[in-house]
Amino acid sequence: MNVLIVYHSDYGNTQKMASSIAAGMRASQSDIRIISKSCEETDLNDLIDADVIVFGSSVHMGSMAWPMKKLIDQAGKLWMDGSLEGKVGGLFVTGGGFGGAGGGVEQTMISLYSNFLEHGMIVIGFPKSLPGYADGGLQWGPYGRTGNHEGMPCGISDAALAAARSYGAHLAETALNIIDN
Ligand SMILES: Cc1cc2nc3c(=O)[nH]c(=O)nc-3n(C[C@H](O)[C@H](O)[C@H](O)COP(=O)(O)O)c2cc1C
Repeated sequence: MNVLIVYHSDYGNTQKMASSIAAGMRASQSDIRIISKSCEETDLNDLIDADVIVFGSSVHMGSMAWPMKKLIDQAGKLWMDGSLEGKVGGLFVTGGGFGGAGGGVEQTMISLYSNFLEHGMIVIGFPKSLPGYADGGLQWGPYGRTGNHEGMPCGISDAALAAARSYGAHLAETALNIIDN
């Protein structure tokens, strides 16, 4: 199973989430190949070659960061011939949590999933029964809040990274079941 993790990260928090997702996937399934890249490093062949595509973005002004949107729009070409159809998709997001209520995190997650579904992909959320959900999860996927109550950056918590590992393990196991059957 080929996994592609694509992230946008200016200050490293989303990249740390990407590493934790990869660690969780590897811990769950030893026989998988994982490539992890920034949006800028990713081309359309990377998407075509993957069985599982995981997108991670920081929240920017209430939605995904523009390099992620640029990649998604470029991948619109793949929609024409359905080359992503049947692949498995997952996601993760970090945000400052502006206003204490997410600052657009759910909008970001839903629009990432909307793109996967438009391509005919199968999406894997984050069940509440999994370890880490209560501290770093939303039903859509893991979320790391990186801002404090004053709106200042405070880094990503171990709890959010643990949730990302847990989600990675779930994603790898579920994807393998789908792909093998
Ligand atoms: C241009 C810009 C816009 C942002 N807008 C939001 C926002 O609307 N909501 C939010 O919760 N956080 C917002 N943030 C905070 C980032 O999402 C947060 O710091 C994130 O964890 C950064 O991830 P990174 O370390 O991977 O770059 C914004 C940050 C930047 C740079």
